Amino acid sequence: MENQQKVKKLIDKRAQARLGGGQKRIDSQHAKGKLTARERIAMLLDKGSFEELDMFVTHRCVNFGMEKESYLGDGVITGFGTIDGRVVYVFAQDFTVFGGSLSETMSQKICKVMDMAMKVGAPVIGINDSGGARIQEGADALAGYSEIFERNILASGVVPQISLIFGPCAGGAVYSPALTDFIMMTEQNSYMFITGPKVVKSVTNEDVTVDQLGGANMHSRKSGVAHFKGATEEDVLQLTRTLISYIPQNNMEEAPLLQSNDPIDRLDDVLNTLVPDNPNKPYDMKDIIRSIADNGDFLEVQPLYAQNIICCFARFNGRSTGIIANQPKFLAGVLDCDASRKAARFVRFCDAFNIPILTLVDVPGFLPGTGQEYAGIIVHGAKLMFAYGEATVPKVTVTIRKSYGGAHIVMSCKQLRGDLNYAWPNAEIAVMGASGAVEVLEGKNIAAIEDAAKRAEYILEKETEYKDKFANPYAAAARGYIDDVIEPRNTRFRIIRAFETLATKKLTNPLKKHDNIPL
Ligand code: HXC
Repeated sequence: MENQQKVKKLIDKRAQARLGGGQKRIDSQHAKGKLTARERIAMLLDKGSFEELDMFVTHRCVNFGMEKESYLGDGVITGFGTIDGRVVYVFAQDFTVFGGSLSETMSQKICKVMDMAMKVGAPVIGINDSGGARIQEGADALAGYSEIFERNILASGVVPQISLIFGPCAGGAVYSPALTDFIMMTEQNSYMFITGPKVVKSVTNEDVTVDQLGGANMHSRKSGVAHFKGATEEDVLQLTRTLISYIPQNNMEEAPLLQSNDPIDRLDDVLNTLVPDNPNKPYDMKDIIRSIADNGDFLEVQPLYAQNIICCFARFNGRSTGIIANQPKFLAGVLDCDASRKAARFVRFCDAFNIPILTLVDVPGFLPGTGQEYAGIIVHGAKLMFAYGEATVPKVTVTIRKSYGGAHIVMSCKQLRGDLNYAWPNAEIAVMGASGAVEVLEGKNIAAIEDAAKRAEYILEKETEYKDKFANPYAAAARGYIDDVIEPRNTRFRIIRAFETLATKKLTNPLKKHDNIPL
């Protein structure tokens, strides 16, 4: 064969590979409102940056006549490229080839990019759109999944892993995304469950639709499995690029420091009066975040799940920072099982990837009751305490208003190695609120007063006494548990200066095989 013919053969083979399972199946993918695997990668990465690997790989299965049907690339597109100039490794399952089902060779392709990402120290982004294990391959397909899962586990905390769900992701296949750091879903065509509606019907007799069982809305609001959702694939791909901008390439690096045009000493007078005088009145914690972060920008993680706590990425003078904040607008910002788990996972992600943590506290306590106790609030709350206590990244805490009891301790208090703990003048730091405390301390005396008016007067007097003592930040500041009481309007500047001085912080935990976080 002449050189020119050889080049032509290559070009032809590439064209054939790019067709995946064929034009008809590509059209059918488009008709469902879905992009093809290659279109998704092109939209995710910087223009022209994608380097495809293993385009000529084919499956080796000879069961059920499979030797007669094979496609170049075998159901997954893999390679590397850049997002804002930074390297990422990607794989995108190609539904046009055997429904994107996972074969032995497909697993090898995915494992190859995961191994390269680990060697280079770069994030892995996986786009899932698959009918699960390739049925014709039996145990080979299962082994293929297991190879991926093991790599997900070993890569956890070393390189960021992000999973996008752009189609079916069912059965054991859900466990690869579940092992990664972030899951993103689209509002249509995207579903995740361990068994589909038919099996559910036969086992539990429940009638449930695909969306009710595992759609983006369910996983964003109820299960918390999805960290982000978007209306379209394009929205989710854009969201992925934004997320990548906040996180480092690996656990040995820091997130990119961006040039900020927002003055570090920008004062916001509104903050001085933002918190209502009545401690039982809510306000929106996001107003505070918007006020203090660079240009008011932040990226919220799990925005619809456990809304009584906010987890988000923001920047302070260009430095990426994870913010955990109680949200008084929902359930008065109380800590419950879901909020504790959500925040604990976020704290651990930030700590694993050298992202400093800002905690904004306004928490009345843990949610009491049988519902929470039966659900194991003890261990879930302990997860959050554990996550904060083991975190070695710079930790700055600002107590905005309430900080009571166990919840005060859990929310990055000084003794959990909080580096700089500030409080607004509105802060209330105590074992419990005034009415609860008076009930416990004065119960017998109160019961002994027969006259109702006198009883009410006595309670008020005792509550006022308690509030005067504890409904302020100065009792804690007098002990050094609060490093300074700050003027609310100056919060942005104080946070920036705190993180800048803490940038060289060095802290290591005792050597151990691994910890035993209360799972
Ligand atoms: C081989 C598969 C396949 C699979 C789909 N296809 N799933 N081929 N193995 N697992 C093929 C179909 O035969 C079809 O081929 C093409 O992909 C498109 O599938 P359709 O059914 O036409 O598409 P659609 O109607 O959109 O339905 C998609 C689907 C459905 C809901 C995903 O295909 C389906 O239910 N698939 C099986 C799902 C499943 O039970 N998987 C195993 C789960 S257990 P043609 O040639 O017609 O285009 C599992 C264990 C993992 O995954 C364990 C890990 C530990």
